[in-house]
Amino acid sequence: MIPLAVPDLTGNEALYLQRCIDSTFVSSVGPFVDRFEALVAEAAGCAVAVATSAGTTGLHAALTALGVERGDLVILPAFTFIASPNAVAHCGAVPWLMDITPDGWTLDPRLLAETLATETERRRDGRLIHRASCRRVAALMPVYTLGTPAAMDDLVACARRLHLPVVADAAAALGARYRGRPLGELGADLTVFSFNGNKTITCGGGGAVAGNDLQLLGRVRHLTTTARVGADYDHDRVGFNYRMTNLQAAVGCAQMERLDRLVAAKRRIRERYVAAFRDLPGTAPFPLPPDSESACWFSGLLLPDSMSPVAVRALIRRLEEQGVGARPFWKPVHRQLPYRTVPRTALPVSEGIAHRVLTLPCSSGLTDVDQDRVIQAVRDCLTRGD
Ligand SMILES: Cc1ncc(COP(=O)(O)O)c(C=O)c1O
Repeated sequence: MIPLAVPDLTGNEALYLQRCIDSTFVSSVGPFVDRFEALVAEAAGCAVAVATSAGTTGLHAALTALGVERGDLVILPAFTFIASPNAVAHCGAVPWLMDITPDGWTLDPRLLAETLATETERRRDGRLIHRASCRRVAALMPVYTLGTPAAMDDLVACARRLHLPVVADAAAALGARYRGRPLGELGADLTVFSFNGNKTITCGGGGAVAGNDLQLLGRVRHLTTTARVGADYDHDRVGFNYRMTNLQAAVGCAQMERLDRLVAAKRRIRERYVAAFRDLPGTAPFPLPPDSESACWFSGLLLPDSMSPVAVRALIRRLEEQGVGARPFWKPVHRQLPYRTVPRTALPVSEGIAHRVLTLPCSSGLTDVDQDRVIQAVRDCLTRGD
């Protein structure tokens, strides 16, 4: 079986893990954590990064640090992994779901501006209120889908006009750029990464919150370390135990030494799929908007409009029978049980693509020979229609 995505652990991972064991620094303090934070900050083009136990906990800490509170609304795209709305819900807040653009699969800036103009009002105390629910709109959370930055210039301009803080869910986007700029220069107050097992850079599990406002990043760090004050057992608010361990960071440091190579491998895999499927009728490649240099986290194919969810599942089964680990992708958030009733715009783009996104093997170590096998299997299944 050619797997969908397996990590490449062929660098210094084992050596660095052994150093943790030898030094007994296995917990949340240790030299690898400091080094990993510096490496992530540098790669993201940010002043500071705070390593966390996961991307989800990083998002929760970031939203909390920016003042998102129980009962608030946080705007995010409907087409994302469930961790994004979960982080909002962990704050006691409610996701306000909006649609994505067809050419980037990221939050639609025009829809955002129009919806905010027609559905919110500014109260005299300065709060931006969603009229229908009477909830405060507390933050904007674009998602860098598949490692492709959202249309940040327009999204951030809209957020700034309305004094909304911006948390970028950049879970899979380390290594990406937008209009020639690194992620830290796109205007988000905080940018959050995931390093779980299927990400291009993995720590086994882990995350990081990066940004340029040292005070804000200090608040994030404080929240992730049980809001401890000083060396004794004093805590000044309800904090979280969200720190990354030295063991996770050891793996992460070894991975970061190869960031450029791993991202380049992902981009090459994407290019080869795009070229190989160009003539397949009704299909489309995953979007690559011209102003983004995507980190190309996952690759695959957008299946024809005419394919029903049942036909897609049958295709995946046939590919599996041929040794190809293909998978469906995210279901839109409003179709998930906990989020069926949250406020949302019309979602034609999210609805239209969700069941047609087919992810294909894209491990950074995928060989050309194996990728050619995947390509042939997909072409056979789709052109024969069996
Ligand atoms: C878009 C998105 N946001 C958030 C996360 C959450 O990251 P983690 O699994 O590290 O908690 C993921 C992880 O897969 C993701 O894809």
